[in-house]
This record gives sequence, C-alpha cells and structure tokens, in this order.
Amino acid sequence: MSNKKKILVIQKVHDKGMELINNHPNFDVEVTDDVSVENLKAKIKDCDGASIRIAKLPGEVINEAKNLKIISRHGVGYDNIDLKTAKERDIKIAITANANAVTVAEHVMFVLLNIAKRRELYHTTVKEGNFKDRNKLPKTIEVWKKNFLIMGFGRIGKALIKRCLGFEMNVFVYDPFVDKDTIEKLGKTENLINYDLLKTMKKNCIIINAARGGIIHEEDLDKALNEDLIFGAGIDVFKQEPPENDNPLLKNEKVYLSPHTAAFTDECMTRMGVETIQNIIDYFDDTLEKSKIVRL
Ligand SMILES: NC(=O)c1ccc[n+]([C@@H]2O[C@H](COP(=O)([O-])OP(=O)(O)OC[C@H]3O[C@@H](n4cnc5c(N)ncnc54)[C@H](O)[C@@H]3O)[C@@H](O)[C@H]2O)c1
Repeated sequence: MSNKKKILVIQKVHDKGMELINNHPNFDVEVTDDVSVENLKAKIKDCDGASIRIAKLPGEVINEAKNLKIISRHGVGYDNIDLKTAKERDIKIAITANANAVTVAEHVMFVLLNIAKRRELYHTTVKEGNFKDRNKLPKTIEVWKKNFLIMGFGRIGKALIKRCLGFEMNVFVYDPFVDKDTIEKLGKTENLINYDLLKTMKKNCIIINAARGGIIHEEDLDKALNEDLIFGAGIDVFKQEPPENDNPLLKNEKVYLSPHTAAFTDECMTRMGVETIQNIIDYFDDTLEKSKIVRL
C-alpha cells in the first residue's frame, strides 16, 4: 500500500498552487469541482487532507473521511466549514493568513473613493452627453481629515490603517480583542450595524462591509440610506450569497456593490492558491505555523 497522503482539492486553486503538489512525491491529489454533498462524501472518504474554497463542508462530509487531519481554507474566513464536527474529530483548519489582507484593504479604499466621488453618477453624466449639467450634480466629498472607524483590528484592519493614514484621515479602531468564549457569549457580530446605530451617524458617513454578510442589517441600511441618514455604503458581502433578487440593496443607487470579490486580484488569487496548498504540505511536514491554525 502507498504511504502517500491523499489530498482532495475541492474547487481547483491557482495553477501555481497545484504545481506545488501535483508532482510531489508524498501526495496523491484529486481535484473536484462538483461540490454536491454526495460527490464530496464519495471523494473525501480515504483522504488525509482537503482544501476548500467557498463550498460548504458539512459535518456529514467531514465524518465520511475517517483519516482526515487537515482542512486548508482558501481564504481566512471559515464559516463554510462545520466547525463543531472538525473540533470533535480534532481536525485542524488552516487559513491563508498571509495572502489577502492588503488586497481587501485596497478594495475598501477603492470603494470608499468611488462612493465619496460619486463615481457612477459623474461618469454616466459625461458618457450620456450631459457634461453641461456638471454644476447641477450633487457634490462629492473629500476623505481628507474625515474620521474613519475600522471595526476589527486584525490583519485587514492593520493593512487598512496605513492606507487611511496615507489619505490623512483620522483613524479610530474598535476591536474588543476578546477571546473566543466571550465572543460566543456576546452573541457575535450579527446585525452589529442596525437602524438604531445608523441613525446616530453623520449624514456624510460612508459605511463599507468587506468582512462578512450579516454584520450590517441589510433592510436597516437600505432604510437609513433612503432617509439620507448616511451618505452611501459599499457592500462586498451579503447575508445570503448570492443575494436574493428582492434584496433592496441591489436597487439602492447609494450602494456600491461587488460580488464578494474584495480579494479577487490576480496577485492575491495566486498567493491564496499557493498558500492553501503549502499549508497542507507544511502540516504533514510538521512545519505549519501555529498562527495559521484556527483555534476551535
Ligand atoms: N470580502 C472578502 O473577500 C474577504 C476577504 C478576506 C477576509 N474577509 C473577512 O474579513 C474579516 C477580517 O479578516 P482578517 O483577516 O482581518 O481577520 P482577523 O482575525 O485578523 O481580524 C479580525 C479582528 O476582528 C476583531 N473582532 C471580532 N469581533 C469583533 C467585534 N464584534 N467588533 C469589532 N472587532 C471584532 C477580532 O478581535 C480581530 O482582531 C473576516 O470576517 C474575514 O472573513 C473578507
């Protein structure tokens, strides 16, 4: 019998990542893009390790893999994996901690400036032959000397603060730095930004969610924008992805949307693909950095 570790790559990663493992003497690799529970249960059966992108990895799939020791997430969020089962089975979850903070921080600056400068409106005005209306357009705003609150001062927050300071903004940080047990008791981050909070904000406030859907209450945000309580919003992540057609934010002109693609630069996808696979190799070499393993 072969001593090679069997790895299932669920949803192919960048070629540069696949190259690391495809001809590696210690691993047998299979790639699957069919993320149905039935297929995953069949494919993961004899695997020692697996990588996963955004597909769901439910308990029933994890439990099918009696030898599974490591799940390597392509990204830093891991809410698509059944953590309870992973913990019960003492399966480690690794994240690509080095790959995407700068990319998401850049995206946040891009969205901020797009909204502040009313990019869509001004651009369309010229394109549609209405240059002469320039004085009638609602004014844009500057980010210079504006207060900027970063909620969550982890990898992305720390990359973001440098960019905000480059624009000479006043930056504030909110991060409870609490341990996992306390977060669980506090009821986590769902609907952290709701109507009651939105109505206390300044009228020229721009709010951006590039973390996880559900942190901002979507209907409340729509209401606050329609009542001109705040200036605009940038939404990369949604409570349900893809969002339902009747999600009011899709029709709100004050919202700048992107399809959970804050980390989708060519450079970042390469880094994430490489790090996802390298994390698996490092795990079996016993060299995986502890900080990349999720504390369950
Ligand atoms: N849009 C995207 O494509 C994309 C890409 C990468 C990461 N993300 C998401 O961005 C978020 C941050 O990623 P990261 O790599 O910086 O994570 P991180 O773990 O390095 O930092 C998160 C920080 O948030 C803090 N925090 C936890 N609960 C909080 C609360 N209620 N209020 C304020 N702060 C709180 C933690 O103490 C921690 O310091 C995660 O939700 C991640 O899933 C999104």
